[in-house]
Order: sequence, then C-alpha cells, then structure tokens
Amino acid sequence: MAPGFPTASMDRYVVIGNPVAHSRSPDIHARFARETGEDIAYERLLAPLGQFDRVARDFFAQGGRGANVTLPFKVDAFAFATERTARAELAGAVNTLAAREGGILGDNTDGAGLVTDLTANLGVALEGRRVLLLGAGGAARGVVAPLLAERPARLVIANRTRPRALELAARFASLGPVEGAGLDGLAGGFDLVVNATSSSTHGERLELPAGVLREGVVAYDMAYGPAARAFLDSARAAGARAEDGLGMLVEQAAESFRLWRAKRPRTAPVIAALRAA
Ligand code: ATR
Repeated sequence: MAPGFPTASMDRYVVIGNPVAHSRSPDIHARFARETGEDIAYERLLAPLGQFDRVARDFFAQGGRGANVTLPFKVDAFAFATERTARAELAGAVNTLAAREGGILGDNTDGAGLVTDLTANLGVALEGRRVLLLGAGGAARGVVAPLLAERPARLVIANRTRPRALELAARFASLGPVEGAGLDGLAGGFDLVVNATSSSTHGERLELPAGVLREGVVAYDMAYGPAARAFLDSARAAGARAEDGLGMLVEQAAESFRLWRAKRPRTAPVIAALRAA
C-alpha cells in the first residue's frame, strides 16, 4: 500500500465546508501526521448548504474521529457539539470537533492560532500594545477573547456597520479594555491592525482613514493568498509591515491536531513548505 493511502483501520478526520475544494487543511494535517508519526486519514467533506448536521452526524456515526469546520458552518458546528471548550463558548463558533465518549466536543482554535502566529512566529508582542481589529463578523468575534487575554493596552473593534462593532465590544467588555467604533472617523495610534473583514474575499476595497496604516504599524490579514493581497498591498504602500494569515492557518490546525492526537506538531517547517509551494 502506498504511504499515506487511507486504510480501513486508520482514524479518520475531515474538513467540512462549502466550498471546501480549496482547503489546505488536508495537506497541513498530512504533514503533521508524518512529522509526529501518527497514522491518520484526513479528507475534504463538502456539505450542502443547510445540511451540516446531517453530514456531520453521518461522519461521526461511521466512526469519524474529528473534523475541522470552515465557512459557512462554524455556528452550525457550535450547535452540533454536545460539549464545548470555554474558548469555543466565548467565540460562539466551533472550528474543531472531536469524538468523545458519548458525545462530540467542540473547540475553537482560531484565536489561539492568531495569537501564536503573531507572538511566536512573527515576534509581535501584544501586551501593552494598541490593537485595531477590523470587522465584526464571525471571524472577528472568534479572536476577541484570545487577543484580550494577551493584555493589550487597548483593543478597538472597528466595523463598517458601527452598531455591530459596539455590540461585539460590549459582549467582551468584562475581559479587558475593548471598545467599538465605525471605520470612518478612526484615528491612528495603533501598533497592530488585524483585518478580519471579508472585503477582499468579495473583491471589494476596505476604505480606511489615512494614518491608520503607516510606518511602525504591523498590518496582519487573517486571510492569505489573493484574498489578503489588497489589504497588505495598501499597508505596504503606507509603510507598514504586512503579514498574511498563512501562519494562523497552520497554527490553528496544530491546535486541532493536538486536541485529536495529544501531540503538538512543529509548525515552522509546515509554514515554510506552504510558502514555498
Ligand atoms: P465572517 O464570518 O467572515 O466575519 P461576516 O459575518 O459576513 O463574515 O462578516 C464580514 C465582515 O466583513 C463584517 O464585519 C463586514 O462589515 P459589515 O458588518 O459592515 O457588513 C466586513 N466587510 C465586508 N465587506 C466589507 C467592505 N467592503 N468594507 C468594510 N468592511 C467589510
């Protein structure tokens, strides 16, 4: 049998999404499995819209051990889990499911992935820093608590639709110095600007007031590849340091892998390999 070919005895994992064909998770987890010597099968699983529950239920009923969950199903996965980690409860969304005795555990590793990429991989300290989080949708919500746990001096959530930002900030107010704002009228003064909007995914421009992106600022897009290009190009043009979310993708995957296999794979070689590919 060719190495890496799934056999009936292997523990099975999937990434569930729609679309899912573009997902790099199978490649990432195959690399983790090789490195840690874990014998797992990991595949893509397309769920028709509105049918996440059926697809996930069938997968686990057939012996599946765990799943990553991507757009647009992270809130469905939250409801599907029979128990949830504290960070999943705070995020209100689940990106990792794990079969457990008598149930399904839901976790959210996105925020940990972002924080690890920033602090460990990119050397961007968060403690005492002024952080701007752009967007107030699901992607933003998942990272607010983990960012606040790093004790920034200030976390401003800014959104095109201002009331959504105010609402999100109010939800997390007990965890640290977080405030909501609109996009227009934002002043500068940030050390780190994290883009969690879906503007570039829709091929739209993200209009920011002058002075937000400038020299001395780290601009981080939670997306990677073409979806991150517009924001990072404008950041670079304004003199900021620009970083994409490929490292976040690999770090959140490593956290999922650890939940499933109780081993944390090394991520640096995987990030380097994906960059080179
Ligand atoms: P996700 O789960 O990816 O966060 P979402 O819940 O639809 O998706 O949220 C998308 C986010 O991107 C929102 O904060 C949205 O702003 P609005 O709440 O004002 O819609 C933001 N967004 C999308 N396109 C944008 C654009 N062209 N400019 C600014 N913000 C944009």
